[in-house]
Amino acid sequence: MNFTVAIDGPAAAGKGTISKAVATHFGLAHLDTGLLYRAVGRRTLEGIDPVLASKSLTAKELAQGDLRTAEIAQAASKVAVIPEVRAALVDFQRSFARRDGGAVLDGRDIGTVICPDADVKLFVTASPEVRAERRYLELVGNGADVTRAQVLADVRERDARDMQRSEAPLKPADGAILLDTSDLSIDEALSRAILVVKRELDLKS
Ligand code: CDP
Repeated sequence: MNFTVAIDGPAAAGKGTISKAVATHFGLAHLDTGLLYRAVGRRTLEGIDPVLASKSLTAKELAQGDLRTAEIAQAASKVAVIPEVRAALVDFQRSFARRDGGAVLDGRDIGTVICPDADVKLFVTASPEVRAERRYLELVGNGADVTRAQVLADVRERDARDMQRSEAPLKPADGAILLDTSDLSIDEALSRAILVVKRELDLKS
């Protein structure tokens, strides 16, 4: 079976949590495409050319456990504006999306560019303040020394860069279902996402 779920949205909207839960619930594979950009961003911090880094990305680099820092997130959103970097990552994402058994991909351009024919498209969002608070708790939980104000500024800066770039800007895809999680608990957000996916799966089977 080919079944693709595309989940997009701004920084720290809860895409990761929702994607993992949807994948586990339905037995689908999951790709966090932000990790691709974070791995490339990380290499640029080491002085490597971003285009070269994107063309030579290895599974080992993606598996590095410490890609989810604020510094790497900023570096990721800077390399993500470069068309050659995005182009180098397309084939990997598309073949992942087509894998047997189905897949969930989350990112910024999954429903618009990578998988415009996805069976389900979700656009997950929340207010910048709510997203920043969630990310603040995640970063502090991982031992980072950050303030709420820094995290909010980082989230706003990345959102602006992601939405204003000319290549694959962040926006809801045609036909995407909007899920605003500002006032939802994690459980509520998950059950809504699962309901939407179940409806499409039932239609398909
Ligand atoms: O977890 P969070 O939402 O903060 O970020 P992420 O999904 O790990 O993505 C990090 C950065 O990579 C984003 O700010 C985007 O600039 C970029 N990205 C992208 O351009 N396209 C994607 N499909 C995924 C991430």
